[in-house]
Amino acid sequence: QCPLRRLLSCPGTVAADLRREEQSSGSAETGSEDRTPKKRFSEVQNERRGQAQRTVLIHCPNKIDEKKFLKFLSQHGPINSHFFYESFGLYAVVEFCQKESVTSLQNITRTPSLGPEAAIPFKSRYFNLKLRNSSNQTSELSSIQCSNQSSPSSKKLYQLLCCAESVDDQLNTLLREFQLTEENTRLRYLTCSLIEDVAAAYFPDCAVRPFGSSVNGFGKLGCDLDMFLDLDEIGKFSAQKTSGNFLMEFQVKNVPSERVATQKILSVIGECLDQFGPGCVGVQKILNARCPLVRFSHQASGFQCDLTTNNRIALKSSELLYMYGALDSRVRALAFSVRCWARAHSLTSSIPGAWITNFSLTMMVIFFLQRRSPPILPTLDYLKTLADAEDKCIIEGYNCTFVRDLNRIKPSGNTETLELLLKEFFEYFGNFAFNKNSINIRQGKEQNKPESSPLHIQNPFETSLNVSKNVSQSQLQKFVDLARESAWILHQEGKDRPSPSSNQPWGLAALLLPSVANNVSLSKKKKKPASERIKNLLDSIKSSGAENSTATNGR
Ligand code: GTP
Ligand code: MG
Repeated sequence: QCPLRRLLSCPGTVAADLRREEQSSGSAETGSEDRTPKKRFSEVQNERRGQAQRTVLIHCPNKIDEKKFLKFLSQHGPINSHFFYESFGLYAVVEFCQKESVTSLQNITRTPSLGPEAAIPFKSRYFNLKLRNSSNQTSELSSIQCSNQSSPSSKKLYQLLCCAESVDDQLNTLLREFQLTEENTRLRYLTCSLIEDVAAAYFPDCAVRPFGSSVNGFGKLGCDLDMFLDLDEIGKFSAQKTSGNFLMEFQVKNVPSERVATQKILSVIGECLDQFGPGCVGVQKILNARCPLVRFSHQASGFQCDLTTNNRIALKSSELLYMYGALDSRVRALAFSVRCWARAHSLTSSIPGAWITNFSLTMMVIFFLQRRSPPILPTLDYLKTLADAEDKCIIEGYNCTFVRDLNRIKPSGNTETLELLLKEFFEYFGNFAFNKNSINIRQGKEQNKPESSPLHIQNPFETSLNVSKNVSQSQLQKFVDLARESAWILHQEGKDRPSPSSNQPWGLAALLLPSVANNVSLSKKKKKPASERIKNLLDSIKSSGAENSTATNGR
């Protein structure tokens, strides 16, 4: 173990400060700064997965002596890192340096006897710590520092935004406050790893991998945890070993289709989680959905989890988004603000329906940044041309090839500010010809819509699919109206920004208030009929000579 690491795992104040500093700057996928060399998505995933496999989750008594607790655990081997958090009780996440330490700890752990109830014995890595004699241990305890797992309240957010120095500063503040922290990211990988232990009861060589916003760099504190059961590794290794004239195959049960296989697998895993998955509650098997899944809450981490299987394309889209987010520090800042703006105005929802999704919004941000002059992001087709033989990736017949080494992509020469980009994003989509054009990040230009859904965003890999097929005309209209009004507010403000002492929300804070329309009246402008306001907006955009305006007025 490196001496610095050992020091960092000590609870002493200097060491704890050092550790915090290391944690806040050391996360390549959560930091807002461009760091070189940048890690590949697969490297981050593998490191995190290894880390999670050496980690345990412990429900602790509310009062605990941190030093003694760590000393007790280090009997099983050196500890690499740890943190505490609160969620209906106090929890500790402890990462050992070696996997064997976890086994050693499991070997001294007993299954509780519960009186009239009976326990299902299952040796997991989720423990309960009890004090043998609580009275002499709780005296004179210094309070334990807990890591925060939730996003700031709206009130705190408005305060922070109103105190910011500029709109750019506001967007960066929002990113800093909402992005997944190092600890939250660890907890997400750990939760997947704990679920993998349960699934491994049936499929010993399986992997449960997180995907979606938990890993693509666009996750907000509190977002759901998407995970998929990866059975692809099973049997691969031995297939390579086969030699000579003989070919060994497993005897298996055949079912009519891939979909039925997925349903059967998820059904038993769902049953396992429900029957003996420690901390898994509210298990729902949603097997008839387009993409069958098992939904449950992981009580100890507080995550709402969606478990699917056979979802390699979704993992590949997470990798693509991770790359786009890591290429330029403006990407995530802009996407977070757009996603928060959409949430604040109920354009997105946690309930499935005709709403636009965060995934679609992120695609719109990427597309918009590809359309700047010079472009801030490259097209997916360009990333494909940079790919080498090792990057080649075909999943279910779809070509998902793109360069995976971020360091081979040249940074953009575009220096536009976040303030300008936010304003232009709203203008661009407030005037986009949604009725005839499709958004296409593969080519980075509008295409004719191949079908009549109100909003068409081409799936980057399964190119015949529309990722926003669910969005209704009225939801799209609401998006367009709000985008126009937001562009309008930013334009007006640019001319006449309220002074910080006036206590009026400004910039991004004004855009996040529940009704943007109210803000127009707030800024002392008598509210005019919508059509006139929009006309004014368009006139004001024209008269300000909006540089690089790529907007296509479709009405
Ligand atoms: P939030 O959970 O809202 O923070 O964002 P998310 O990106 O995790 O979205 P969601 O949980 O809805 O979906 C998880 C992942 O599934 C996404 O990141 C995508 O990779 C993929 N996904 C979601 N919706 C679609 C879709 O309509 N089409 C395709 N191809 N993939 C999708
Ligand atoms: Mg998600």
